[in-house]
Amino acid sequence: LRIALLFGGRSAEHAVSVLSGTNVMRALQPAKYDAVPIFVTREGKWLLSSFEDGKLSTPESGTEVCLVPGGRGRMIALPAADSAYEMPKIDILFPVLHGPHGEDGSAQGLAEVARVPLVGCGILGSAAALDKDIAKRLLKEVGLATAHSVTILEDSRPSFADLERSLGLPVFIKPARQGSSVGVSKVTTAGEYEAALVEGFKHDRKLLAEEFIRGREIECSVLEDTAGNLFVSRPGEIVPAESHGFYSYDAKYIDEKGAALKVPAELPEELERRIREMAGRAFRAVGCDGMARVDFFLTADMQFLINELNTIPGFTDISMYSKAMAASGVSYAETIDRLVAHGLA
Ligand code: DAL
Ligand code: MG
Repeated sequence: LRIALLFGGRSAEHAVSVLSGTNVMRALQPAKYDAVPIFVTREGKWLLSSFEDGKLSTPESGTEVCLVPGGRGRMIALPAADSAYEMPKIDILFPVLHGPHGEDGSAQGLAEVARVPLVGCGILGSAAALDKDIAKRLLKEVGLATAHSVTILEDSRPSFADLERSLGLPVFIKPARQGSSVGVSKVTTAGEYEAALVEGFKHDRKLLAEEFIRGREIECSVLEDTAGNLFVSRPGEIVPAESHGFYSYDAKYIDEKGAALKVPAELPEELERRIREMAGRAFRAVGCDGMARVDFFLTADMQFLINELNTIPGFTDISMYSKAMAASGVSYAETIDRLVAHGLA
């Protein structure tokens, strides 16, 4: 089975995606899969990559490739501007891209246009989940709680005093459509709020101001089978180091001691049952299919709030999706097999 794996990408999570892509490549069993790694540059070009000694190449130039619309996996290579050659057809596309232009429905739409099967969530669920403002509304509609927030647009910015009144302090300012805490600030003063807006608007035209939730961070992996049934993993817990203040980009990927993962999370049976049930409901409410990792806060009074859904969750060494699956008896290789089977169904 020939599987094209997209990694890198145009988003601010480019480097995270390279780590995720590398791990997915390592997990693809060569006996089953003929993998075609494709490096998506920061500008969005698709370049043929290679995988040697456990490492993916991230070329700056080389053979550009493209999927042919309606081609059912036909792929053309463009080694030079004036010539092109037909590559072997791919059977399925696996975008291991995080954030805008990859996890937001765009790569998924491309697969649809190319008539090629896709690993993971489709267009609608991807787009809805990546937009925290839209996702919250869908979750609310089915009675799932999320942190209180105010949506901020460039031409409608609430005053700091208004935010303090409605959300309390500190408050988080985050781009509506980003991942890995890119562009997120924790704010306690009017000055910090102004700086946070500047930072946030570098990443998106829509921001959220969100109340600070004092609680534990707990996540579940969801994987849909070919019959449409959901497998929800046992929950895992993220324990960010005190020094980082929150589970920031640095705490995630830069500082090795930035956070610890506890899988499975230590939870009373009843709470574990409840969070797994809520993860499945959230997945459906946001219109997801295939896979997602559902991230929660557990408050001091034992309420679960949904933080967000990630339809292409991290597959880095420190990422929860595969660890939570493993803790539930599904190995990394088996997870990939199930994802591919879902995409082909
Ligand atoms: N956005 C990162 C990759 C995650 O959710 O794991
Ligand atoms: Mg995310």
